[in-house]
Amino acid sequence: MRLDKFLSELNIGTRKQIKEYVKNGRCSVNGTPASKADMHIDENSDEIAFDGVVLSYSKFHYFLLNKPAGVVSATRDGRNETVLDLVAGENVKGLSPCGRLDIDTEGLLLITDDGELIHKLLSPKKHVDKIYEVHIKTPLSEGDINKLEEGVNIGDKKDDGSVDLTLPAKVEVSGRADEDGNPVIFLTIHEGRFHQVKRMLEAVGNEVIFLRRISMGSLKLDDSLPVGEYRSLTDEEVKELKK
Ligand code: URA
Repeated sequence: MRLDKFLSELNIGTRKQIKEYVKNGRCSVNGTPASKADMHIDENSDEIAFDGVVLSYSKFHYFLLNKPAGVVSATRDGRNETVLDLVAGENVKGLSPCGRLDIDTEGLLLITDDGELIHKLLSPKKHVDKIYEVHIKTPLSEGDINKLEEGVNIGDKKDDGSVDLTLPAKVEVSGRADEDGNPVIFLTIHEGRFHQVKRMLEAVGNEVIFLRRISMGSLKLDDSLPVGEYRSLTDEEVKELKK
């Protein structure tokens, strides 16, 4: 591919800026200053550097958003701000959120243009773990925990009309409460049914007051990413997710 296309896809600058950068000797190919902005490079084997920093090329883009409440997990919405609006500055076409969080749910959301990875992570057969921090109305009893861990009836039916219980889940009682006194638990589920966590807690007579997703498969939300902000995944994180 052309060097300027490669660099613009990595958001180094516009084609015009890149021409200037090449002229000023800021771009190198295999250790030698690039001769022309439109020179051809092999993005898979050539070592391309900008200001001395070697760039790694990926056909796809991967962003980890710490979703705020009030934003919808859709590509388009007539009324509300969408999660794609939050990454619009990246100027990447074809991005989609990997799954959905409710409008009032915060936390980890992967946004990517890698449709194959989205498909893989959301496939019901793969049972990718999702961990939620859940603030609930009242403490859970041992019985409630057992029910949630064994599978509860949240009103879903199988094709044959029988009750479709949730898959076994894991409950971890944190032992702490939020600033309003609501107990905080961590719930690990392996499915992604509509409003699943809220419906599971309802099924044991409780209520979700606040919900935040903190992990999906190997991807974790780190404390350093403020609510409403996003960052690119590291090469290592992408590799782990694809495993
Ligand atoms: N379960 C819910 O109820 N809501 C979410 O946003 C995610 C999981």
